[in-house]
Amino acid sequence: MSAARIANIVAIDGPAGAGKSTVARALARRLGFTMVDTGAIYRTVALAARRAGIEWDDDEGLRRVLEPSLGISFIAPPEDAPAEAQRVLLKGQDVTEAIRTPEISRGASVVSARPIVRAALLELQRQLGREAKKGAVLEGRDIGTVVFPDAPVKLFLTASDEARAARRFQELSQKGLAVTEAEVLADQRKRDASDRGRDIAPLKAADDALLVDTTGLDLDQVIDRCVDLAKSRLQA
Ligand code: DC
Repeated sequence: MSAARIANIVAIDGPAGAGKSTVARALARRLGFTMVDTGAIYRTVALAARRAGIEWDDDEGLRRVLEPSLGISFIAPPEDAPAEAQRVLLKGQDVTEAIRTPEISRGASVVSARPIVRAALLELQRQLGREAKKGAVLEGRDIGTVVFPDAPVKLFLTASDEARAARRFQELSQKGLAVTEAEVLADQRKRDASDRGRDIAPLKAADDALLVDTTGLDLDQVIDRCVDLAKSRLQA
């Protein structure tokens, strides 16, 4: 991958609930870039496997889910719609809500630790970043370290375990899912341990990433700071 071709990539990594999606969405909107939620791709693999009756750690079965192609596509929201209106399709079927359940969160964590899955999704993520018209904001766990290691802007968002779980709990409750905050925290700790501890592309900040701790911060302030930073790095 030549450096010239990744000129307009913003990489946002960090654990679940650190505010990545909110920041990525706002950045994409302000810069006129396409947002790529790479977690949604891993979630879709978990959902596709579940629907096909394939265990999340069954590499042969996962291969069948991934080849010749996963069949994922995104429908970008209209300019004036809230960015959350982005839809995720699996072989033409809308799975936007189906990939956000706690069960599929667990599945995504399992499938994302399988080398066969990461290898199959690497090129797809690069392609989504490269084919974006003006540029792309990609959010995930290994964007700045593996997917686009030469990205000119790399942000690593963190927040305390409790702050992250509280945000996730609020999100899930608003969607009417019956979970307790303690369950969300316990699930999150398991997923964090798996995301950080796996051998392949573990969650970690790139050496040249800017660390942003969002605990107790108003996300609007975080966004303003990230936008300024991204603009100055992209112009440089
Ligand atoms: O960001 P999220 O919660 O939607 O991510 C779902 C899972 O996918 C999570 O366990 C981490 C994993 N993931 C990953 O390993 N690499 C990425 N680039 C994005 C997500």
